[in-house]
Amino acid sequence: MTTSVPVGIKPKSLRAMEPEGLVVQTMPTSGPLVDRYGRVHSDLRISVTDRCNLRCVYCMPEEGMTFLPNDELLSFDEILRFAGVAKRLGVDAVRLTGGEPLVRKGLVNLVKGLNDLGFEDLSLTTNGTELARRADELAQAGLRRVNISCDSLIPERFAAIRRRATLDVVLNAMDAAEQAGLRPLKINVVLLRGQNDDEVLSFAQFARTTGRTVRFIEFMPLDAQGNWDRAQLVPGREVYELISERWELEPIEATASPAPAERFRFADGAGEIGLISSVTEPFCGTCNRLRLTADGAIRNCLFSDAETTVRDILRQGGSDDAIEHSLRSAVWGKFPGHGINEPDFLSPQRSMSMIGG
Ligand code: 5AD
Ligand code: SF4
Repeated sequence: MTTSVPVGIKPKSLRAMEPEGLVVQTMPTSGPLVDRYGRVHSDLRISVTDRCNLRCVYCMPEEGMTFLPNDELLSFDEILRFAGVAKRLGVDAVRLTGGEPLVRKGLVNLVKGLNDLGFEDLSLTTNGTELARRADELAQAGLRRVNISCDSLIPERFAAIRRRATLDVVLNAMDAAEQAGLRPLKINVVLLRGQNDDEVLSFAQFARTTGRTVRFIEFMPLDAQGNWDRAQLVPGREVYELISERWELEPIEATASPAPAERFRFADGAGEIGLISSVTEPFCGTCNRLRLTADGAIRNCLFSDAETTVRDILRQGGSDDAIEHSLRSAVWGKFPGHGINEPDFLSPQRSMSMIGG
């Protein structure tokens, strides 16, 4: 066992909590999608549905969710048109999300269309329940990578947290995804105090033995029930300390593309973990994300209710220039930070599954 100094997590002052001051004065009409603080937006999350076949405790109530009527969802053609404009404005990575994206019929056709547009990265976040039988066709259609949610390695507990799925199905999905070439696999774990926080070391061991990246996510105020409670959140720093008491961790420097996860490798060999400490150590300062909701609204932040709708433009014969203007204005209106830690913070009106994770 090693007791090396924790060099990994940067002190708060070094983390990009918020951008440093105003650098741009007027909204540009050409060039990349930049906001007032100079953050260039190149990562687009597209939600294809707000529906899901699960009811994870940190996301949805057990009963009583209402969903968008189908005619309010963007069609694949509408999504592709929007994505084409975004690509021209410098978006190079697309992630499909939901709800659960694989409950949307024919998703593979959207993947094909997006692949034809030529994004550098094309990925999917999924709960894993439908993935085993779809992994091959998705990979053949051009999908590169998947993130799979898995919040416990203990079957009964997994079932209690995710309510309508079983652990074995999701573990099979991981194998199928890797066999299909959807690598590297990332496993998302939302840690909840008193429910699965005693599994940090098991998940770290899982990362070491499987070579899959395990990412520990702080519980965020995005559940549809509005039950978020800071006391249930497990801070990333605590996870870091727990794991590094057992195995030495080395920080992996951020690459050109800013990722929300702080990444660490095990010093003695295989495996990697990530910490997504959205609440306790926000990464707003380097945020390059933009979201398109399933009903065609551009969101510049998970936590801001300000939305710019593009569905009407898409449905009423609007021009690409009009779509471009919506994208530019949406990015331009982005706040410097999410404000979760401010006393006047209010949870956004739409919850995670309605926005797209
Ligand atoms: N807090 C943190 N993560 C959440 N997710 C869903 N709801 C929440 C929440 N309230 C995660 C899922 C999935 C990703 C899309 O978002 O576990 O990994
Ligand atoms: Fe579905 Fe994902 Fe929400 Fe769980 S977290 S209920 S899998 S959308």
